[in-house]
Amino acid sequence: MLVFVPPHPLIKHWVSVLRNEQTPSPIFRNAMAEIGRLLMYEASRDWLPMVTGEIQSPMGVASVEFIDPREPVAVIPILRAVMITMIRVLIVVPMDLGLNPVNACNGISRDEETLQPTIYLNKLPDTFPEGSRVFVVDPMLATGGTIVASLQLIKERGVENQQIKVISAVAAPPALQKLSEKFPGLHVYTGIIDPTVNDKGFIVPGLGDAGDRSFG
Ligand code: PRP
Repeated sequence: MLVFVPPHPLIKHWVSVLRNEQTPSPIFRNAMAEIGRLLMYEASRDWLPMVTGEIQSPMGVASVEFIDPREPVAVIPILRAVMITMIRVLIVVPMDLGLNPVNACNGISRDEETLQPTIYLNKLPDTFPEGSRVFVVDPMLATGGTIVASLQLIKERGVENQQIKVISAVAAPPALQKLSEKFPGLHVYTGIIDPTVNDKGFIVPGLGDAGDRSFG
């Protein structure tokens, strides 16, 4: 498994805004959305399928490359805190060219006592088209129960680890350890890796409860 923490000043800035307990909800939401956009930009680098051709510009013929709208791309959010992140994740993918990447989502919540994930919504397709590139978005990877449950559902539908990229604002070692053991070949893009998870399942120092801080 490969874990990328892009060394980008904007990502560091927005992670710092998320961490600040004084950050009000509207600014928190903006920071979360920005991190989603920047990580999607990094995760899609060299990975979205391209098609080449020639096009007439006002000044002459130019060789061009577009994202190939015939190749299947899926962006799968894990509800609910992710709703804020998704706003700008989707801006990165040029849907106006015919790509229609949101065809699925998972709703998974974590029991506050046992920390075990419960799947309350599964809107994944029965199978993914062959060769699909799948982005899975969840703002936090803490104990790892949620992301593991989601990836298992996706893999049951015929997707290989190498076809999946996980995007997350903050990740912690327990989640990364589980992902590495269960999904070799997976790629993870995160804004920061924090040292630990406490006994209530919160990343420390982390950013608190992303859902509560986003929605108030
Ligand atoms: C949070 C977060 C992740 C999950 C991570 O969701 O958004 O989905 O916890 O925890 P884990 O790695 O220990 O499983 P939560 O269950 O609080 O639901 P929410 O998004 O609806 O707030």
